[in-house]
Amino acid sequence: MVVAVLAGDGVGPEVIGEAVRVLKALQRHGVHVELIEAPIGGVANDRFGDPLPQSTLDLALSADAVLFGAVGGPQFAHVPRGKRPGDGLLRLRKSLGLYANIRPSRIFPELIGVSTLKPEMVRDLDLVVIRELIGDVLFGEPRYVGKTEQGLRIGVNTMIYREDEIERIARFAFQMAQTRRNKVCSIDKANVLETSELWREVVSEVGRCYPQVELSHMYVDDAAMALVRRPTQFDVIVTGNLFGDILSDEAVMLTGSMGVLPSASLGAEKAALYEPVHGASNAIAGKNQANPLGAILSAAMMLRQSLNLAESSERIEKSVRKVLAAGLRTPDIAEPGCQHVVSTTEMGMAVAEAL
Ligand code: IPM
Ligand code: MG
Repeated sequence: MVVAVLAGDGVGPEVIGEAVRVLKALQRHGVHVELIEAPIGGVANDRFGDPLPQSTLDLALSADAVLFGAVGGPQFAHVPRGKRPGDGLLRLRKSLGLYANIRPSRIFPELIGVSTLKPEMVRDLDLVVIRELIGDVLFGEPRYVGKTEQGLRIGVNTMIYREDEIERIARFAFQMAQTRRNKVCSIDKANVLETSELWREVVSEVGRCYPQVELSHMYVDDAAMALVRRPTQFDVIVTGNLFGDILSDEAVMLTGSMGVLPSASLGAEKAALYEPVHGASNAIAGKNQANPLGAILSAAMMLRQSLNLAESSERIEKSVRKVLAAGLRTPDIAEPGCQHVVSTTEMGMAVAEAL
């Protein structure tokens, strides 16, 4: 089994380094996964003139799974469009056909106090945002910065969804709900947007094939509010690429510990991509302060879902629980007065040892 390891920018290399440490530590339990590293993002563009070099894409296409860190950073802000770190990631998602992004938002009992919401609001939090990942305004054409006839600068993007794109992500969400609490909330802006009008129509049609799943609809502004008011009302949220980008950050931050959460991006083909949800976090990059648990748990998710290694996956998840129960905290999840603040590498080593 081959895993493409794409660490990228910011804290990516540090946290992925710890995930790799943990994967290597599994060897003593007889689990051998071949890990092949390749460049992506701003660092790849600096070195090879492309945020997604062809060799990286080829590796990702042939691998059994991709373990991804993060891309982006202020130092790349002036790179021309098309060559920016995020462009590499978007192209990778598109090339691998990764249409479903899954971001579970669940709270570890040890970390309830880290949330900025009241403990009773988040104790039973267990929702998952399913974000459509390769359509919408992020990919729609035309897109450009240009000039009007009067010579005024104009920025243009196109929000567009085809019914088959909506249908496949809706099916994905309903199937996921069947393995959980049988509830889907579809989020759109159907009071204003035509794309959303179609979205709501198609999701409702698909919903009729899943009568046992309760379907509700919510406007995105209302959903943003509902997520902080009573997040436990949600089970599966399904939404488009742009709204999903925003709401999934909000949903994972309800836990207060974005640093701990994994995510997966899946498609119709075999390859899938696993990444921590925290992003590049450039402010703490290179300081050995980032939380590696999101990357480590992403690796665990990968073992279960793509490599058929459920037992090893569980072993990692148990080890993470063990180090949290022992009180180890990286700064992002340390409550005031915490005695056990550890670095990125210390946390990774603790998990590897707990295996
Ligand atoms: C994410 C990120 C990316 C996105 C960026 C880096 C292109 O914000 O994975 O949510 O917008 O999808
Ligand atoms: Mg985002």
